Amino acid sequence: MRQQVDWAHVLIQCRNNVREKIRPLLKKIDRPQRDLGIGAGGDPIENVDLAAETAIVSTIRKHEITFTLISEESGIVEYGESPRQCYVTADPIDGTTNLIRGAPFYATSIAVSTEPTLTKVHTALVTDLFRGTTYTAQKGRGAHKDDRRIRPSTNTSMEEAVIGIDLNSYRIQNIAPRLTKLIGKTKHVRHFGANALELCYVADGTTDAFIDIRGKLRTTDMAAAWLIIREAGAIITTPQGKPLRAKLDPKQKVEFIAAANLEMHTRIISLTKPEKEKT
Ligand code: IPD
Ligand code: CA
Repeated sequence: MRQQVDWAHVLIQCRNNVREKIRPLLKKIDRPQRDLGIGAGGDPIENVDLAAETAIVSTIRKHEITFTLISEESGIVEYGESPRQCYVTADPIDGTTNLIRGAPFYATSIAVSTEPTLTKVHTALVTDLFRGTTYTAQKGRGAHKDDRRIRPSTNTSMEEAVIGIDLNSYRIQNIAPRLTKLIGKTKHVRHFGANALELCYVADGTTDAFIDIRGKLRTTDMAAAWLIIREAGAIITTPQGKPLRAKLDPKQKVEFIAAANLEMHTRIISLTKPEKEKT
């Protein structure tokens, strides 16, 4: 029998538990940490990543929910008797480097779906752990920042736009030629270092676009923000303008262009198109 779960409520409880469990660790973050190995997403695991993941899992299990966890730290883990009914995709801490260095921009991201596919995400939460603000969305019910409904910016001028571009890459020479024109047309370029939160900034109009065309970002980092962006009324597609249909898996990589409105989205796609694709 399919379980009935109030996921919006459960995700808020997960957030509260993450905040509580990481609070003591944040106080001693500058002390040397034990080596905890490499997580399923391929990055070194920090204490705080594990504490946040444990907080999420234990909150959900307290509700006796059967589910499959898809996490950047532990990978894919099944809980309960019918774990294929429901998938919880988590990046327990997005922006771990910021957190460890004391830069105030890091988040927890959790998405719930009926299948391990981005398009099946129905409930999402991204919480800014430094500022304490929380973005949520439920399919067909809009997106919210705390209690306020959010909408993306209506700006269509590239010259005025604030655009996020993820430039974290050892292969910058591969993507740089596609970014030159866009950067040349944009006065305000940003990268804050936690992609889930940066996508939420497009959803609530803080920025006008955020793009990541490195082929390096995991779906676990952006599954929740994908729904938040769409429910807010902004657009997120592949760099070619096609719908994003990625599998939810800590090893699955994704590239995207997210923009506040169709005009800005079309403009960015055209500015970032590789020369050989142009007709
Ligand atoms: C990282 C952040 C960062 C992006 C990296 C991600 P993490 O997430 O989202 O902005 O450039 O590719 O790995 O590792 O802190 O969860
Ligand atoms: Ca992470």
